[in-house]
Formats: sequence, C-alpha cells, structure tokens
Amino acid sequence: MKLIDGKATAETIKKEIAEEVSQIVANGGKRPHLAAILVGHDGGSETYVHNKVLACEACGFTSSLIRFEDTISEEELLACVERLNKDTDVDGFIVQLPLPKHISEQRIIEAIDYRKDVDGFHPINVGRMSIGLPCYVSATPKGIFELLQRYNVPTSGKHCVVIGRSNIVGKPMASLMVQKHLGDATVTIVHSRSKNLKELCREADILIAAIGQPHFVTADMVKEGATVIDVGTTRVPDATRKSGFRLCGDVDFDNVAPKCEFITPVPGGVGPMTICQLMLNTLAAGKKAYYD
Ligand code: GUN
Repeated sequence: MKLIDGKATAETIKKEIAEEVSQIVANGGKRPHLAAILVGHDGGSETYVHNKVLACEACGFTSSLIRFEDTISEEELLACVERLNKDTDVDGFIVQLPLPKHISEQRIIEAIDYRKDVDGFHPINVGRMSIGLPCYVSATPKGIFELLQRYNVPTSGKHCVVIGRSNIVGKPMASLMVQKHLGDATVTIVHSRSKNLKELCREADILIAAIGQPHFVTADMVKEGATVIDVGTTRVPDATRKSGFRLCGDVDFDNVAPKCEFITPVPGGVGPMTICQLMLNTLAAGKKAYYD
C-alpha cells in the first residue's frame, strides 16, 4: 500500500506556481488576482475561504475577500457578482457555497462571467469540459486527476467507479475520467439509489468516494490492488481536539488501506489539492490561458 500525499503534492505545486508568478511579475506582467465572496459565518466555509486566502499568499497572488451577512438579498449579491465581472483587476472570483436558502445558487453561478469562473461551476465551463474544450475545471476533480497523474496511477482502459453524483465532484470527476486524452477510463457513477452499489465498487480499479458519509466504503467493497480516493470531509465531534471536531473521510481507511495499491488519507489527501487547483485556475485566468 502506498499513501498518496496530497499535502506534499499541493506544496510542490504551490511552489511551482509561485515561481511562475515571480517570472510573470519580473517580466512586467500582472500579478494574478483572486476574489472570494463569503456569505454568512458557516464554520466550514470560513475555514475553506481562509485557506484559499493563505494559498493566494503562498502563490504570490493578490486576493480580496468580500464578506456579507447571511441576510444579504439575492439582488445585492448579484450586484456584487456584476461588479466583480466588470473589475478589470480581478482575474477570477468565487462565491463560496453553500449560500443561504433564500438565494438561488444556480442563479448566482450563472451570473458569474464564465471567463472569470475559476471554480468551473458555470454551465459554459461544465459544458466545455464535457466535450474536451479548454476551460476552468472544478477544483476537486481536477486535483484528484492531478494526484493520479503525479503518482503514475494508470487510468487508460481501467474501470473507475465514482460514488456520488454531485455537480461539483461526482459528475465532473466522471467526465474527466472518461475523456479520451485525460482519464481514458471506463467510468461508472453509483449513488444512493444504485441497486448493486457494493458489487460495482468491487469491480473498480480506481474507486473515488464522494458521498459525504463517514466510513461508507468498507473493505468488502474494495478489490485487492485498487486505488482508492477519499473525497469525504465530514466534521465529526471529537472532544480531544481543540476545535471540538475532526474530519472524517468516506472510506474506512484502517480496514481498506491494506487492500490498496494507492490510497489517499483524510486529512492530507484530496483537500489540499482542491485549493491548489483553484490556484492553478487563477493562474490560468491571470494568463488568459482559456479565454481572452
Ligand atoms: N463549497 C464547497 N466546495 C466549494 C468549492 O470548491 N467552491 C465554492 N465556491 N464553494 C464550495
């Protein structure tokens, strides 16, 4: 069993980005600028956004954090999105999800200029990805794909089973893994309604768990020699921690790991890679790599 170290890989990538940014700036270019909109005070969202701001600093980016109380109206939030769309200094921006119930996430996502949508959530980016055109790809699936590549996990012709069908992980993950010049794999998506979920998981050469249920994947669901990627980050109460909680993955790591060729831990696996892919998307936005 080999552990896939997402934390170390993310540090390496952030250093690579910082070097490129130094070069850009030394050559008279503009420092990439990421803006983040955070609505309310959800603990998880606060942590994610804080980590995104820290990652910007590590990469040499400019960052702006725009905060609103969760009483903000949809119209006010749309006006902020419009302002960032027009701000020529901002290369890319994100609206941290989830949003309060009275705001339509889809309406907000579709209001973001797709050329600045570094989260890759806008339907134009989702559509372009699904037909293999250059675009911003959602950070978690892109981070997982990068890990598989950096650890030389073969994907072409392999059977990849994705557990979960969310718009930000499961579906784009399946889309990347099936693309001819990317994963080039045979892909199955299973979800809460799948009848033969365990049997399908047992057939996976690469099993990607993104269902958000602690320890959902047990040893009997994993083929000997499989690669297992754990996207889960459920907060479970833990009185021994200063924070009062710990992050729990979707995989029963202790029992599954001995069967695996490769496995990601939680924390320190997919999580750090997600933020670093957002940084790569921001770098691409700064360079106008996909869109003018
Ligand atoms: N909430 C959970 N993950 C994400 C993400 O990748 N981007 C945004 N904007 N919100 C999230």
